[in-house]
Amino acid sequence: MQLPRSQHLASELIWLDETTSTNDALRELVAANTEQPNRSVVVTQSQTAGRGRLGREWIAAPGKTLAISILLRNPAQSIGTSWVPLIAGSALRRGLATFLGSSEVALGVKWPNDVLASNATATNRKLSGILSEMLPDGSIIVGIGINIALTEAELPTPKATSLALLAPEQPIPDADAVVAGVLEELFGLLDAIDLGNDQHVKDIVTADSRTLGTQVRALLPGGAVIEGLAERLTGDGALVIIANGDHGSEPTEVVVAAGDIEHLR
Ligand code: BTN
Repeated sequence: MQLPRSQHLASELIWLDETTSTNDALRELVAANTEQPNRSVVVTQSQTAGRGRLGREWIAAPGKTLAISILLRNPAQSIGTSWVPLIAGSALRRGLATFLGSSEVALGVKWPNDVLASNATATNRKLSGILSEMLPDGSIIVGIGINIALTEAELPTPKATSLALLAPEQPIPDADAVVAGVLEELFGLLDAIDLGNDQHVKDIVTADSRTLGTQVRALLPGGAVIEGLAERLTGDGALVIIANGDHGSEPTEVVVAAGDIEHLR
């Protein structure tokens, strides 16, 4: 498939009719060529072994979803690479919002980077997810999965949604338009950091968050569970939760750098 707009934005754009995982395909390209350029992009509509965060699988119906992986060399040096997954979440939220037309859909980012959609009939349905992986040389692969044309019956879980379901009156966007929209936002935010506008980008990430200011349950990688108010981001982009005190004890601040967040209301 030809993706002319996306090709213009990426330094190299590789379309695959099918692959196991675009993150793995891009990792192999980098392993084979240490000079693989910054902002190389791999895209497919058919992944046979897509991977999600925290070791989960990413299930995506062929032809109705998009998988995009982007190679970032030395991104966001001034604020630190731990911000890159959060910035990618904001870029995705902004890129996808343009395909919803005038439909009454609110898109927000669940920390660290799931794009959730809410409208009159459904709340916090997952439209898109991101798996960011660091390579041994410090480069980052940002892997993005987007539910484009799935019907209700084709959703991988009842908590998911798709662009087609959110904006049924809109034409289903073509792959080039979606990839280009996301790349434009992501590269724009990364360029802003390179130009010194760190605080502006952090403010965008904060404004796009659906998590900050809400009651959450955090499931931590070791199995611990914390409930409380998601209050702010640290200088590294970790989530600060004011954990509810047990039996009248004082609330305590817990810094969550990795884990799964559930919004409680
Ligand atoms: C998540 O929500 O858990 C993250 C899902 C990330 C899926 C994308 S699809 C493109 C890239 N290739 C993969 O194998 N995973 C990511």
